[in-house]
Formats: sequence, C-alpha cells, structure tokens
Amino acid sequence: MIVRKTPSEIEKMRRSGLLVHKILHELGAMVHEGLSTWDLELAAVKMMADAGAKPAFKDYFVPAAGEKYRYVLCTSVNEEIVHGMPNPKRILKNGDIVSIDTGVCLEGYFGDSALTVGVGELSEQAKKLLKVTEESLELAIDKVREGNRLFDICGTVEDFVVGNGFSIVREYVGHGIGTQLHEEPQIPNYVDRRNENPRLRQGMVLAIEPMVNAGKPEAKVLKDKWTAVAKDGSYSAHFEHCVAVTANGPWVLTRP
Ligand code: MF3
Ligand code: CO
Repeated sequence: MIVRKTPSEIEKMRRSGLLVHKILHELGAMVHEGLSTWDLELAAVKMMADAGAKPAFKDYFVPAAGEKYRYVLCTSVNEEIVHGMPNPKRILKNGDIVSIDTGVCLEGYFGDSALTVGVGELSEQAKKLLKVTEESLELAIDKVREGNRLFDICGTVEDFVVGNGFSIVREYVGHGIGTQLHEEPQIPNYVDRRNENPRLRQGMVLAIEPMVNAGKPEAKVLKDKWTAVAKDGSYSAHFEHCVAVTANGPWVLTRP
C-alpha cells in the first residue's frame, strides 16, 4: 500500500528535506582534491547533531547486506554506484566523481537526497555522465503529477539515459518515503512490467534516484558487503530528490 501524506505531514517532510539539502550543499562545496570521504562524514555528523536531526542511514538494517549500515553518508567514488562507505584512507583526487547520499529524520519524518560532484578537472565523458544523470532526474520530477502513472517516471529516466548512450543500474531503485525511509512503491529507473503501475495521487511522496553507469549496467557488491560497483569499472553517477504530488504539480522537498 502506498501511504499518502496530509499537507501537515508534507510540511514536516519539507523540514527534513531542506535540512538534507543544506547538508548536501555544504558537503558539495567542501569537495576538493586531498579531502577524504571521512572528512565529509565528520562534517555531516556535526551538521545533523547541530540541527537535532536523527541520521536516517546510520543503524539502518539492509537485508541484502545482512547488517546495519554504520555511517550517516554513503560516499561512492568513480565506479562505485551506491553504498560506498566513508573512509579516512579514501582521498579524493583530480578527475574523480563522488556521489554523496544522505537522509535525516526530524519529528518522525524522513528526507533523502543525493548528488554527484566532480573533483577538479573531469573527462568529457564524466561531465556528460553527471549532466545526463541529473537531467534524467529533472525530467522525471516533471512527471510527478496527479493522474500520471509510476511508469511515466521510470520510463522517462530510462529513455533519456539510454538515448544518451549510458545504462541504467537495475539492482537499486527509488522508493516512497514518509515515516519510513523506504516505503512503497519501489521506483526502478526503468519500466519493469513485472511491477504494478499505480496512478499518482495527491499526498504521495516519492524518492526518485537514478543510478547511471557510463558503461555496462551490471553491478556487483564488494566483499565489504556494501559497496556496489559497476562490474566493468566504468564511472557511475547518482542523483536523488524527494518529490510530493500536490494539487499544483511536483513539489521537490529536498531543495529550496
Ligand atoms: N541509498 C539509499 C537510498 O537513497 C539508502 C541508503 S541505505 C543505507 O534510499 F543503508 F545506506 F542506509
Ligand atoms: Co533513497
């Protein structure tokens, strides 16, 4: 069942969403050559504590990993797709791309967002990967309207990404969000005809999160049980926003 939120619940999700935005914006501005992904984690821990927010990812149990996640951020560098773990030994270098994914909970309501930023000078392909992945999310956001269907979102991401010569990661998907970090429906970044195709209704809040590989779509998980990487070693990008279906169209809760 897809839980629909009242306007006052969406206002609470808005507070979480704006906090996630502020954190990601500040972390994105910190990124430079020589910084470690652990430096990002420490800054995020402090910002969440200062705001009185509960980190959404830390201690979150993920069945596929068989254990709880131990950090407030996922920091996924280059061929890492998602669930890269902050590490003081992972020093960012010129030409890297790093995706930063985080969530918070304020007053029982979650916010979740991700972005990918470049370090220094990027290759033309890496620049295009970031641009296409972010634009696929923007195009999908515009489909978050009452009367449209879930597959309109999924298909929009898929068509744009594939049309630009990149590939969609299939193992990881977006999700509904509210009083739980992950609620129904699952939101693949491609049309999966095995799933239902519900109509979008006012009060639904969707976390849309394209994960796009520059090369082949296949993913594998490293021996650390968490880090998902592109099997062929190609770069991978990730952007995410939480979007509410309102009478006035899409409302992106995770940006001003
Ligand atoms: N990246 C996932 C999402 O955006 C959540 C992270 S799972 C966790 O939905 F274990 F890392 F918390
Ligand atoms: Co998410």
